[in-house]
Amino acid sequence: MRTQVGIIGAGPAGLMLAHLLHLRGISSVVLEIRSRDYIEHRLRAGVLEQGAVDLLVESGVGDRLLREGMVHEGVNLQFAGERHRVPMTELTGRAITVYGQQEVVKDLVAARLSAGEPILFEVSDVRLHGLDVDEPVVAFRHEGRDVELRCDVVAGCDGFHGVSRSAVPEGVLTTYERTYPFAWLGILAAAPPATNELVYCHSERGFALVSMRTPELSRLYLQVPPDENVAAWPDDRIWAELQARLAMADGWRLTEGEVLEKGVTAMRSLVVEPMQWRRLFLAGDAVHIVPPTGAKGMNLALADVKVLGEALAAWYADGRDDLLASYSDTCLRRVWRAQHFSWWMTSMLHRFPGHDPYEVKLQLSQLRYVTTSPAYARSLAENYVGIP
Ligand code: APR
Ligand code: PHB
Repeated sequence: MRTQVGIIGAGPAGLMLAHLLHLRGISSVVLEIRSRDYIEHRLRAGVLEQGAVDLLVESGVGDRLLREGMVHEGVNLQFAGERHRVPMTELTGRAITVYGQQEVVKDLVAARLSAGEPILFEVSDVRLHGLDVDEPVVAFRHEGRDVELRCDVVAGCDGFHGVSRSAVPEGVLTTYERTYPFAWLGILAAAPPATNELVYCHSERGFALVSMRTPELSRLYLQVPPDENVAAWPDDRIWAELQARLAMADGWRLTEGEVLEKGVTAMRSLVVEPMQWRRLFLAGDAVHIVPPTGAKGMNLALADVKVLGEALAAWYADGRDDLLASYSDTCLRRVWRAQHFSWWMTSMLHRFPGHDPYEVKLQLSQLRYVTTSPAYARSLAENYVGIP
């Protein structure tokens, strides 16, 4: 097989890149180890920055997003039993949209299929060769056959557990990382969202988050110990803990409902630099991970491939390689801003084992400052809605 761009992974990064290249007449083949059904139903992130919404809409895959996405003009921080709203739109002129990552994936898969462009599901044994001689080949198995895909460049969009990153020789990449001494237990519940906007809640019992997916579905999270077993959390324990952490002085209570899905997510920060080696370009979770507290993961993945799509278009159309050469540096500026913001939100809102009362007082002072100083609130808001 032969194509211009070999794309490994059909998450938001790989699918969006394939779509952007198609719009510019550049051919690509998308390879995905999972089934279509699996990637379209995997419960992941749910917050789109304004820039991500604009990218989806302007590239023609935003119709359902505009109909079904829930636009939020503010976000709440709760601490000491009180809730404070940060009016993001008033402070920045922009908003976020709540729309599940698997919905973005469904819309992009549909666009790919209706364009009649290749996307191969359930491939296995994916290996990269020929990068050192600038003749990339992606070898894989599909439907019982061994296939070799020859391409001009490879886009490694295969997430944290993918294989692309490991095709780069030892010593080229530098990894910066941090793990946090807690995880998130997340549920999807058949309950109307208890609030109009998200609530990030600091409490003595640990962090809690109120989010949503639709007017009928709530998405809720609890800070739990790292490597927590889901079996330790029967539904009634989850609701009791959410109610306790989210309790407010005025007696407000969370709406409860049937728990439809449950899972534990580890919390980690990671950046791998540079995001390129010769003809291999890495994007999204394959090269950077953020803790979910800043809601940046999906947005960074989309921002990377916007830059990569434009750079590849300039290379194919005009033989320009300057944008490809600066791809990594351009993306890393945004990546590191999101790293700092996500680390900062995480540090401010969670209960850290070993924190003494002094550190808790600092967190509370910071939360009070962020919610009362327009200067600090604007800083939070502009990071949250995404710096253009
Ligand atoms: N070959 C082909 N595909 C692979 C391989 C492989 N060897 N390994 C992994 N994949 C696939 C995964 O099954 C997944 O569908 O690559 C895809 C990577 O997609 P994501 O993990 O969604 O990563 P990305 O597109 O970068 O999007 C980042 O995902 O984890 C969330 O919070 C994160 O919202 C962020 C988003
Ligand atoms: C979600 O709705 O899944 C969600 C929202 C905000 C976050 C993380 C996850 O910070």
